[in-house]
Amino acid sequence: MDPAFWKARWESQQIGFHQSGPNEYLTRHAARLTGGLEARVLVPLCGKSLDMTYLEGLGNHVVGVEVVEQAVFAFFADHRLAPKREALGKVERFSAGGVEILRGDIFDVTRAALGPVTAVFDRAALIALPGAVRAKYAPHLVSLLDAGARILLVALTYDESRMKGPPFCVPEAEVHQLFAKSCAIELLEESEGIDKPENERFRTRGARSILEQVFLLTVR
Ligand SMILES: C[S@@+](CC[C@H](N)C(=O)[O-])C[C@H]1O[C@@H](n2cnc3c(N)ncnc32)[C@H](O)[C@@H]1O
Repeated sequence: MDPAFWKARWESQQIGFHQSGPNEYLTRHAARLTGGLEARVLVPLCGKSLDMTYLEGLGNHVVGVEVVEQAVFAFFADHRLAPKREALGKVERFSAGGVEILRGDIFDVTRAALGPVTAVFDRAALIALPGAVRAKYAPHLVSLLDAGARILLVALTYDESRMKGPPFCVPEAEVHQLFAKSCAIELLEESEGIDKPENERFRTRGARSILEQVFLLTVR
C-alpha cells in the first residue's frame, strides 16, 4: 500500500475507515493513555480523524502524521481552521490551535520533526499496513518514543481467506512479535465487532467475524 494507493482512495472518497465521531476505545481508555495529564499525543496515519479533536478537547497537544495532502486539507477545512504551513525537512507541518499534522510518510518522520510525545493512539494505522511494512513500522514508531511512553493500539483479527486487507489481520501473537522486545503489553479489552454498524463494509466484503482487541503498550 504505497502513498499512491492512499492518494487514490482519498481522491475517490473511498474512506469507509473514517468515523463520524471519536473512536469508542479512545474515549474509554484516553485516561489510561495519557495518565490523565495533558500530553503530546501522536496519531500516526491520522487521516482526518476526529480522534485528534477529541484528544485536543481533553487538553492534549496532538501531532498527526498523514501522507495524503487532501486528507490534511480536509481535516482543517472540516473544522474551519486555516493552518499555518511550514517545511520541516522531508515533511511539512500544518498547525492550528492544539493540533498539528505532519504531512509526509511516517517513515520520514524524525524525533526532531515530531518533538517529544508521551502517548500514541494507533487506530487503523498498524492494521492499514501490509506485513512487511508492519515489521518496519513497529520499531520505527518505538524509536520516536522515550521509555514510559504509551501506545493505545486497536488491532483486528479475522479470517483472511474471506476478506483481503486493508485493514489487515493483526492477531495478538503478531502484536507480541512486533512489540514484546520494546514494550510491556497489556490487553485492555476484546470483543466481537462484526455486527457493529461501522463494520458493515467488512460484512459486505465477506467477513463473518472480526475480533477487535485493544492493547496498551508501554515503552521500556
Ligand atoms: C485506514 S486510514 C486510517 C485513518 C485514521 N487513523 C482513522 O482512524 O480514520 C490510513 C491512513 O493512513 C494514511 N497513510 C497510509 N500510509 C501512510 C504512510 N506511510 N505515512 C503516513 N500516512 C499514511 C492514508 O492516507 C490514510 O489516510
